[in-house]
Amino acid sequence: MNIEILPDAGAAAARAAALVADTVRANPRAVLGLATGGTMLPVYAELVRRHQAGTLSLAGVTSFNLDEYVGLSADHPASYHRVMAEALVARTDLRPEAVHLPRGDAPEAEAEARAYEARIAAAGGIDLQLLGLGANGHIGFNEPGSPHGSRTRTVELDEATRTANRRFFAVGTDVPRQAITMGIGTILDARACLLVATGPAKAPAVAAMLEGRIGPRCPASALRTHPRVTVLLDRAAAAELSHPEAFETRIDDSAVA
Ligand code: F6R
Repeated sequence: MNIEILPDAGAAAARAAALVADTVRANPRAVLGLATGGTMLPVYAELVRRHQAGTLSLAGVTSFNLDEYVGLSADHPASYHRVMAEALVARTDLRPEAVHLPRGDAPEAEAEARAYEARIAAAGGIDLQLLGLGANGHIGFNEPGSPHGSRTRTVELDEATRTANRRFFAVGTDVPRQAITMGIGTILDARACLLVATGPAKAPAVAAMLEGRIGPRCPASALRTHPRVTVLLDRAAAAELSHPEAFETRIDDSAVA
């Protein structure tokens, strides 16, 4: 596991975008696993900046998002379909038909989850999976207690997750209680993973992920069993690690295109 602690959230996002860009430059037809949430927005803004500067093309990329809320249609303002459409598709050359998310309004959510898993396999699997981290240690919407071998399925969201994500919903609208998420096993099948966690609210989950027991209490701890994982933290998110100095890395920003 490669762990880098950067000065702040902006530096972590820039570094994440640089690693995504490296992957796409090495393989313009890469299959990317994408995440949503507040942590990812500056990462996508940085990818957009690179695209506009003419140094990054996503035209050959295929993407699969981690998750979607059950019950939300693609045009719902808080759906992850909308987030991806606005943050990346509208502002880069990523082809809309190459962007995949589970359909939240599918008539049979479980059947949609199984079909989504099959679509990932049919695309040849994921080259690089981007991940955020829940304050409760979740990855995707695999809440504590999720089996490490779990596959794409319908899950109940923890109250803590619904509360944390209320900020993305209009006042007066309810946060869905269920989501379709890639499983932990699905995530671990990616050839490489890149997790980004920033801000003090993530510090306990970061410590549990990296220094706690590997097990269902902290879903993200499963990443320690994967051979190719990079974890990007800012100083605030790293604050509860017992020996953060062991991980501190200096990134030469002049090398980042
Ligand atoms: C979103 C997802 C979640 C988020 C996590 C962190 O697609 O899968 O695991 O990455 O909840 O969200 P933020 O970045 O909003 O703190």
